[in-house]
Amino acid sequence: MKILGIETSCDETSVAVLEVKNNKIKILSNIVSSQVKIHAPFGGIVPGLAAREHEKNLAPVFKKALKEAELKMEEIDLISVTIGPGLEIALWKGINLAKSVAQEFKKSLIAANHLEGHIYSNFLNSNKIKFPALNLIVSGGHTQLVLMTGHGEFKIIGETQDDAAGEAFDKVARMIKLGYPGGPAISKIAEKGDSKKFNLPRPMLNQKNYNFSFSGLKTAVLYLLKDLGEISKKTKADISASFQQAVIDVLVQKTIKAAKEYRVKSILLSGGVSANKLLRKTLQKEAKKLKLFYSQPNLQYTGDNAAMMAMVGYYKFKYKKYEMPNSEDLIVDANLSVKNW
Ligand SMILES: Nc1ncnc2c1ncn2[C@@H]1O[C@H](COP(=O)(O)OP(=O)(O)OP(=O)(O)O)[C@@H](O)[C@H]1O
Ligand SMILES: [Mg+2]
Repeated sequence: MKILGIETSCDETSVAVLEVKNNKIKILSNIVSSQVKIHAPFGGIVPGLAAREHEKNLAPVFKKALKEAELKMEEIDLISVTIGPGLEIALWKGINLAKSVAQEFKKSLIAANHLEGHIYSNFLNSNKIKFPALNLIVSGGHTQLVLMTGHGEFKIIGETQDDAAGEAFDKVARMIKLGYPGGPAISKIAEKGDSKKFNLPRPMLNQKNYNFSFSGLKTAVLYLLKDLGEISKKTKADISASFQQAVIDVLVQKTIKAAKEYRVKSILLSGGVSANKLLRKTLQKEAKKLKLFYSQPNLQYTGDNAAMMAMVGYYKFKYKKYEMPNSEDLIVDANLSVKNW
C-alpha cells in the first residue's frame, strides 16, 4: 500500500510517500520545505506569512515528493492530511490540496491528527512497539504524556499547564539573544556550559500528578538575568546548560514515574524537542534501567514532517475503526487533541 502524507500545520510544508509492504515500512520520499528563515526575524511564527508560504510551496513540494518516490498519483492508495492542531489558515492549505487531489484521482482520504503524527513518527522505525506504550510528546506547542493501549487508543495522563517545553526553549533563547528557533541554539551552546552552575527550579517535579509547568522556570531565568546584568559567552552557556538540565530532569523523571505506575512495556519520545541530544540520551538510559522497549524518531522525523502523517494515516486505515470522511466534509480542527479512533 502506498500512502501520500500532507502536513502544513505550522511552518513546514511537507509531502511524503510511504510504502507498506508485507508489514515493512519504506519511506519513498519525505520533502520538507522549512520556513524557519522567513519567521526568524519575527522571533516566532507569523500565521499569515506561514499560509502564504504554504500556498507558494505546496505544489512544487507535492510534485517533488511523487517524483522522488518515482510514482504517479494514480499509483497512490491513500491520502493522509493533517487537520489539526495547528494554525487554522495554514492547515487549510494542506486540506484544500488533499481534497482536490482526492477528488480528481478518486482516492480515500484520512483526516490525521498532528500530535498522533508525532507519536507515529516512532512507528516509522519499528513495528515491534509493544503496548501499553507511554508517549512523551515534546514540541513547540505541546508537552504531553499519552498512554497508548493499542493503535488508536490514547489517554492523556499529563500535560503542561502553561508553556510547552519547546516554547520555553524558544523564550529562554530569546532572553539570552540566541535567536529563533531556540531549542537547537540552546542545546548547542549548552554543550560548553556547566549544568550545575545555576540552581533553577524543577517545577511540579514532586507533585503526584503527571502535569508539567515551564513558565515558572522561564521566569526564574529572567530574574537570574536581571541579577547578573551583562553576561559573558561562558555564562550564556552555563545558563543554557542549567536550564536544559532542569527541563530534562522534570520530563524524564515524570515519564519514568508514569511508566512504572502504568506498568508500560515501551516508552516513546517524539516532537520537535525530541531532537535534543541530552534528552534522548537520558530518557533512553532510564528506560533501559527498567528494561523497557525504547524508541525515539530518527532526527529528520523529530520536527514536523509528512512521513509521520502518512504513517498515522496508514494505521488509521488499517484498523478501520475509523469512518472515512467524505472529502468535501473535511475541515480544520485547530485545537484538536489526541482522540481514540
Ligand atoms: N535540539 C533541540 N532541543 C530542544 N528543543 C528543540 C530542539 N530542536 C528543536 N526544538 C524545539 O522544537 C520545537 C518545534 O517542534 P515542532 O516542530 O514539533 O513544534 P510545532 O509543530 O510547532 O508544535 P506542535 O507539534 O505542538 O503543533 C521548537 O520549540 C524548537 O525550539
Ligand atoms: Mg509539531
